[in-house]
Amino acid sequence: MSEGQQLQQCDISSDFAHITDFVFVIFGGAGDLSLRKLLPTLFSMHLRGNLPDNFEIIGFGRQNLTDETYRKLVKESIEASDEVGTPETQHIEDFLSHLSFSYGHFEQEEHYNQLEQLVREKSNEYKVDVLYYLSIPSTLYQQVISQIADSELPTAGEGSRIIIEKPFGKNLATALELNRTVNRAFREDQVFRMDHYLGKETVQNIIFFRFANSVFEPLWNSNFIDSVQITVAEDIGVSRRGRFYEKTGVIRDIFQNHMLQVLALIAMEPPAEFNSKQVRDEKVKVMRSLRPTAYQNVGDVSVAGQYSGGELHGEQVKSYREEVNVDPESTMPTYFAAKLHIDNWRWAGVPFYVRTGKRLPRRVTEVVIRFRQPPLKLFRDDCKPLDASRLVLTIQPEEKISFLLGVKYPESSNLIVPVNMDFKYSDYFDRTYVSAYERLLRDCLTGDQSLFVRQDGVEAAWEFADPFVSWWEDCECAEFYPPGNWGPQGAEDFIKRDGRSWATE
Ligand code: BG6
Repeated sequence: MSEGQQLQQCDISSDFAHITDFVFVIFGGAGDLSLRKLLPTLFSMHLRGNLPDNFEIIGFGRQNLTDETYRKLVKESIEASDEVGTPETQHIEDFLSHLSFSYGHFEQEEHYNQLEQLVREKSNEYKVDVLYYLSIPSTLYQQVISQIADSELPTAGEGSRIIIEKPFGKNLATALELNRTVNRAFREDQVFRMDHYLGKETVQNIIFFRFANSVFEPLWNSNFIDSVQITVAEDIGVSRRGRFYEKTGVIRDIFQNHMLQVLALIAMEPPAEFNSKQVRDEKVKVMRSLRPTAYQNVGDVSVAGQYSGGELHGEQVKSYREEVNVDPESTMPTYFAAKLHIDNWRWAGVPFYVRTGKRLPRRVTEVVIRFRQPPLKLFRDDCKPLDASRLVLTIQPEEKISFLLGVKYPESSNLIVPVNMDFKYSDYFDRTYVSAYERLLRDCLTGDQSLFVRQDGVEAAWEFADPFVSWWEDCECAEFYPPGNWGPQGAEDFIKRDGRSWATE
């Protein structure tokens, strides 16, 4: 925070509930995701002093590992991780002493019995919270959760929780099926469905910004807002995840979850209280108010594309079809843009343009709120139409909020030029706040579900997204775009038809 500036006078560290003693069981504990991300993050929490003295982490998986060899593996991954700096060996050793490994195949009942014995021992006969983290491909969720439900592993108590990462099913039908299985063992208040976008500070800030500043909220509706744009752009390709992406595609991967979550935060009504139930109630209401698109109309309100090969940032990059584990004739979309409407009093008539894709010119996630043009003729200018005011919430990689306003160009008679008022997080706050993932893990451990997706939200999002997924998969007509382009030409034409253009460049 810059000198002389003061935040509220409250103690920020006491804002969070205390994490009580726990046993954390990781299914797929020696897998890639666990070693690269989950365990270094848990270590980082330990390093910051955010974990209690008594905690145990149990990796469960089919690798032939002892506690010792597992610890060695985790040590290497912590040392290789760029999330934790260069910690002292003593700190790592201390963390490792809380780790053990339980050998097991996901389909074999007796391995869950062995795991149960270990959990019982480590939790001192279940006297502490027991959390289950599924660090495995989502195709295995059903199997593992069913086995947990059929085993003696503790699931009923308050402190038993299950953590799963998106995707939650691959359409509405499979999401319902998955949830039926989850409910065999866990109640909704024990289920933590993780969408990492919700852990990002700038995403969380959307509702605070909206509802803590009385200058914006009165304007936040169709009387003053012309349109909203949400862009989630990446310059990376699918890299090693070809197999996953071939079954997923951009609509399931980003649109159905991250984008609809951001949209819900932009569009929701103020909750009466800031608690997990009421915030999530309001978000689900937005998803249910999205105007459904019939299967046969999908091509009229959306565009899809797939990246071809070429040069990006001075390097030669492969086309999607040339990526590892991708069908050389695949038609899976890697780019998606759509025009959505929210049919409620606040947003009637305001189009929400969303677009997302891989191999675009740069990584940026941004929300642009475009206000209406002033109706006066006074400012008419022969050279260029007056640009309406815009509020830009940049979620990443820069974290900032900008307000673009029109001002008189000095010495002109009535020429208006756009100028920028910027708030950058880095100008006000030390960039030491925790990663999105760490924030979400902390909330799982304290049992706060506010930043997690509730089942009714998952269902509403699939119900809305399903026609888009099926139509684009059936038509096999995604348009190619070269890497480093803002998607296919169709996406430019699509928004131009409405007399608008994409704001993020
Ligand atoms: C994941 C997707 O959920 O989000 C990836 O599966 C994508 O395909 C990633 O690259 C983007 O996350 P972030 O935080 O880099 O915007």
